[in-house]
Amino acid sequence: MKIVVINGPNLNLLGRREPQVYGTDTLADIERRVREATAELGVELSFAQSNIEGEIITMLHEARYEAGADAVVINPGAYTHYSIAIRDAIAAIEIPVIEVHLSNIHAREPFRHTSVVAAVCRGRIEGLGWRGYAAAVRVLASMHDELNR
Ligand code: DQA
Repeated sequence: MKIVVINGPNLNLLGRREPQVYGTDTLADIERRVREATAELGVELSFAQSNIEGEIITMLHEARYEAGADAVVINPGAYTHYSIAIRDAIAAIEIPVIEVHLSNIHAREPFRHTSVVAAVCRGRIEGLGWRGYAAAVRVLASMHDELNR
């Protein structure tokens, strides 16, 4: 099984960016933790990050049509709250996508309470830090048979 993990804008600054909100792990630390926590599942994971909306859309297209991924885990960062283009790309690729947020977006400013991608994602995990990505991978791995039916 192949899963692509996509991180959006400003997540390259994790570790330095608002550590009181996002913690002190860098994105590379998170990748390492997720790989370690899910190693026994035998899932092929690839990680990508971009600050650019169009690049994230291309990553979604490529996950499905070039990499042949079975599923995607995405933290769209602030694009979560307003990118209809990313929402449409998620809907277009027709493979399961799980939305992940490090922080609990519902415990933060009201503008973060809206997710325009939520309705086209299989589900969402928020507020659990790096463990949210690992949990998403675990859920998708457990759905593998169902996905290939
Ligand atoms: C975030 C929450 C978003 O509101 C914010 O813009 C981010 C990170 C999170 O992981 O908690 O960049 O997606």
